[in-house]
Amino acid sequence: MSESIKVNAGNSPSTIRRDIYGHFAEHLGRCIYGGFWVGKDSPIENIEGYRKDVVEAFKKIRIPNLRWPGGCFADEYHWKDGIGPQSQRKRMINTHWGGVVEDNSFGTHEFMRLCEILECKPYICGNVGSGSVQEMSEWVEYITFEGESPMSKLRTENGHKDAWKLPMFGVGNENWGCGGNMRAEFYADQYRRYQTYVRQYGKDKIYKIAGGANSNDYNWTEVLMREDARFMDGLSVHNYTFEYDWDHKGAATVFDEKAWYSTLKNAFSMDELVRRHDEVMTKYDPEKRIGLIVDEWGTWHNVEPDTNPGFLYQQNTMRDALVAGIVLNIFNNHSDRVHGANLAQAVNVLMSPVLTEGDKMVLTPTWHVLDMYKAHQDAKLLETTFASSSTGIENYRVPGLSVSASVVEGTQDYTITVCNPDLKNEKTLEIALDNLPTTIQKAEGKILAGEKMNSFNSFDKPDEVVAKDITVKITGKNTLEVNLPVASVLSVTVHA
Ligand code: AHR
Repeated sequence: MSESIKVNAGNSPSTIRRDIYGHFAEHLGRCIYGGFWVGKDSPIENIEGYRKDVVEAFKKIRIPNLRWPGGCFADEYHWKDGIGPQSQRKRMINTHWGGVVEDNSFGTHEFMRLCEILECKPYICGNVGSGSVQEMSEWVEYITFEGESPMSKLRTENGHKDAWKLPMFGVGNENWGCGGNMRAEFYADQYRRYQTYVRQYGKDKIYKIAGGANSNDYNWTEVLMREDARFMDGLSVHNYTFEYDWDHKGAATVFDEKAWYSTLKNAFSMDELVRRHDEVMTKYDPEKRIGLIVDEWGTWHNVEPDTNPGFLYQQNTMRDALVAGIVLNIFNNHSDRVHGANLAQAVNVLMSPVLTEGDKMVLTPTWHVLDMYKAHQDAKLLETTFASSSTGIENYRVPGLSVSASVVEGTQDYTITVCNPDLKNEKTLEIALDNLPTTIQKAEGKILAGEKMNSFNSFDKPDEVVAKDITVKITGKNTLEVNLPVASVLSVTVHA
């Protein structure tokens, strides 16, 4: 089967902000403890207590920002429990996630240092649900105030004289649910109040993100935009991809073809979700100043057998890779409004790019997609058009392709990423780059495909699914041809 894609190289509607490729680390299961953080005395190779292998994996995919400490944990987190000598920190029960002891050994200083080591922006989510305005205000003062104040003094006493930068701050998490079960109108007022005291002390801007809707709750977005638009820089939304729906999740590695298409259909629905939230936001913000921040997205399957159900530990197959590729193409194509996103979650929780077990680490198929897509970060989006037939089973039909393209500003370096959701038909892809100022000099491709639709990387077989080079033929001044296997993700880089 052959398909053709046209890329308009002569016009860029927006920049794909690199924050779209953000990650999320909650105090949940083995994301922080055992995932990023093992402590300085661990036999596992570490840099100041952070796992070296995990740090390197995230640096390689150019992690732009890391959201912390939650998630639902954020609205139960009291930051003062996580500062000072680690041995004296308060021990508590993580009631939301698995009922395990949280010893607070990973707190503000440890998080800020992790971001320095990862060379990414810290994105902290504050506590609205069970915290006070004063507590949130003091946290921001503790982190960012340079001069003399009670909180900067406390920070200095705890070993950090210099203020940090806090480029992104979320005012609560899922305040319609675990963050306080609020109505949109009530939260809208709370947001105005809390954000007032998220003070910007120096010249460095704090990008304030209002807690957003649960998936397709467009009314939440309407109320927040109507009441609070002028007080926010970003408005979040959370949307997870289930096999069928919340009540019909399945196993991460054992599923049939119908479940494959159903899951991918749910992934494609991100397009409608973004469009409709954007429509509401555009009523109040036609200039698109305010970013839609999809700060939790990814697949949510049943936990792996014999693991703590509260730890949300799941494996990650080619199906998850397709979800990642499709959703990231959607975010790229809507980058005029989607200014940030955070995959849930970074390590050992939900759709993780990285899994660990003791001293072992594996890179999941999702990690490979992030690696193949990283050239899009901060590049200029290009319009793409294609007329593809649909594929699927019964009611579970999806478009035959998913595509996005970009060019690195000021260069002739192009990236085109394509997903083939089709389980039966491999495709010969003809790609034309219209309005190129010069002719194509060089083209290279990488392909991610498994032996089976549920191929995955385990600790025993970590290289079952890895990106491989694929030949891309230059067929004319501005045209290319490449073969796209079934159930695969492709990236093509072109130099003209
Ligand atoms: O990512 C897991 C949980 O999903 C987060 O804590 C919460 O915000 C969401 O419901």
